[in-house]
Amino acid sequence: MSAINVGIVGVSGYTGLELVKMLHAHPKFELAYVANSEGDTSLAALHPALKSVCDLPVEKADVKEASRRCELVFLALPHKTAMAFVKPLVEYGCRVVDLSADYRLPLEIYEKHYTEHTDRHNLPKAVYGLPELYRNAIASAQIVANPGCFPTSAILGAWPFVSKRVENSPVIVDAKTGVSGAGKKLSETTHFVNVNENLFAYNPLGHRHAPEIAHKLGLEESEVVFVPHLCPITRGMISSIYMQIDEALDAKSFIKKFYEHEPFIRILDKPVDMKSVAGTNFCDIFVKQQGSTLFISSAIDNLQRGASSQAVVNANIMMHLPEELGIPKIAYVP
Ligand SMILES: NC(=O)c1ccc[n+]([C@@H]2O[C@H](COP(=O)([O-])OP(=O)(O)OC[C@H]3O[C@@H](n4cnc5c(N)ncnc54)[C@H](OP(=O)(O)O)[C@@H]3O)[C@@H](O)[C@H]2O)c1
Repeated sequence: MSAINVGIVGVSGYTGLELVKMLHAHPKFELAYVANSEGDTSLAALHPALKSVCDLPVEKADVKEASRRCELVFLALPHKTAMAFVKPLVEYGCRVVDLSADYRLPLEIYEKHYTEHTDRHNLPKAVYGLPELYRNAIASAQIVANPGCFPTSAILGAWPFVSKRVENSPVIVDAKTGVSGAGKKLSETTHFVNVNENLFAYNPLGHRHAPEIAHKLGLEESEVVFVPHLCPITRGMISSIYMQIDEALDAKSFIKKFYEHEPFIRILDKPVDMKSVAGTNFCDIFVKQQGSTLFISSAIDNLQRGASSQAVVNANIMMHLPEELGIPKIAYVP
């Protein structure tokens, strides 16, 4: 089988860099096109870590050129910008993995929490790129909406137990994440002075990932209580999830069986930590119950399982390649 040409638009950002690292080393994908908003530079100029390893020219983003050279394009762009690229890419016959929020939600929910959607025609055709839930649909999708980072960790932890929940009880998600989740652009919130040796909740009960978690779990928005916290770390994410479930259920045996065939889920016997998944596509999960109260702890790397490695897994599935091909599995430890 010859190489499959792929491209990245938005390559100068954090998730763009992670995509380059994987695609450069991928045995079947050939990185044929990389672009940002200005072009006229190179990967090593944008990301010094890539010098002498992968120093492709970076071009000014152009959908026609991207679709001429690539079968599949990864969009590592801010929401709203992404949908302006998806529409013409699809018209040119390209397949797309979009890392932004633009195709993750039905129109009404998207417009309530984000902005006006300018690609209403394609929105309903997009498949939510969480392989554990939608593997078959991803394989034939032209547009895959890569999930948000908090939703990935929260949904993978809570999903097995949603049908075992005590009626009308909330799903409470208390999440912690590192600063890279906000992208490379500096803001007052992510300034070193504000983050260093600090810890705080942001957008409690108002974060845009709450409706995504609720929608994919099949719940009303009011049934999900979501509070994210920013931690003084670069990458990593842990969601502590609390649910009321049928107390007759043995939660640990149940979730082990539920995910037994999933290559990127590990059910641990001790509480999860961020370092053990850093740089990998794993989602580590630990559960403990006290009567009907269930505690679920779910750890991912926000830049990998929460974004770029999940995007490459989705591309593998779309191209009928083995799901684990070229996907990092050993964490950045110690
Ligand atoms: N960071 C995470 O942990 C994470 C997790 C899940 C999902 N996501 C989502 O993934 C997307 C990318 O996130 P990120 O953290 O990589 O953001 P980022 O670091 O801010 O990078 C986004 C890049 O998009 C480029 N860009 C903006 N407008 C463009 C245009 N018109 N044409 C071409 N390139 C353009 C910018 O590069 P130039 O200014 O150099 O052109 C920028 O570097 C976002 O939608 C984000 O919400 C991020």
